[in-house]
Amino acid sequence: MICELRETIADPTAHPVLDLVPPEDSFREEVVRGLQAVPKQIPSKFFYDERGSQLFDEITQLEEYYLTRTEIGILHQHIGAMVARIGSHVLLVEYGSGSSLKTRIMLDHLMEPAGYVPIDISKEHLMQSVAALAKAYPELAIQPIAADYSSPLTLPAWGADNVVVFFPGSTLGNFTAGEAEAFLNQVAHVVGPGGGLLLGVDLKKDRAVLEAAYNDRKGITAAFNKNLLVRINKELGGTFDLDQFTHEAFYNETEGRIEMHLRSSHNQVVQVGSDTVSFLEGETICTEYSHKYSLDDIERLTAKAGFSVEEVWMDEHQWFAVLYLVAH
Ligand code: AVI
Repeated sequence: MICELRETIADPTAHPVLDLVPPEDSFREEVVRGLQAVPKQIPSKFFYDERGSQLFDEITQLEEYYLTRTEIGILHQHIGAMVARIGSHVLLVEYGSGSSLKTRIMLDHLMEPAGYVPIDISKEHLMQSVAALAKAYPELAIQPIAADYSSPLTLPAWGADNVVVFFPGSTLGNFTAGEAEAFLNQVAHVVGPGGGLLLGVDLKKDRAVLEAAYNDRKGITAAFNKNLLVRINKELGGTFDLDQFTHEAFYNETEGRIEMHLRSSHNQVVQVGSDTVSFLEGETICTEYSHKYSLDDIERLTAKAGFSVEEVWMDEHQWFAVLYLVAH
């Protein structure tokens, strides 16, 4: 299936999505398994149905959510140095739909890119953003791939001088340490020796700043968190009463991460299709980790996958960093 990519890329007007997303069964299985585990947890990748993606877009505009605008500021300020590092005729692979302003900053400045491959779990989101990108960059060869970030992927060479993965947004922080390591190993495999990774990561900082970013006053993050239950109700025959769960997000300093939870306000029993799940009063479902890093943390984590840090760009408060790493 991967070999077909070479043909598709030759025609920049055709952008059929290569669909590698596991079937819906995997959503049911992972949700039920997570709700039967102790403590209860649901992988954060399931936030992103159409509504979840919309809510996340709203989060990125919030005053308290400094991450997106800070990273965009770093990109604007240092894009010249970044593309000089990346070089010309690269195949740019982005984990994320490519709908963001960040993608356009990259594509506006990259020197004669060989092609662009956005990879996202939401096929709808991918199709929308690729249609818009194709209009804005009619000469660019684009091959969207709908896939779980964790699915192994092999790309053909496409005549590019180099392969560089763009992974902005500190999405790496949503993985557990083990998942992050596995993901980085996979990226190293995708780019090959000498290939690059342009990585955005949120840095450790004052607890109040971190906690405000995940507890916004408008309640958008709470709606984003609860949308997971809406999705389970709609797609898996769930009976969650949204008023019986509260959004919670706090910084776990020992683990260096924001944790998001949904807390049951009393003892209750919920159905997910034919499966029954019991909650005690105060019990939570952990719905997301968002790890925050020091530069040392990142250097250690990426070194395990064979990357070395070539350059680091930060904002004036040192709240966020964009790093260029090279695989060996
Ligand atoms: C996508 N990811 C980097 C976001 C984050 O900050 O961890 C997801 C998010 N969760 C709550 N707000 C935003």
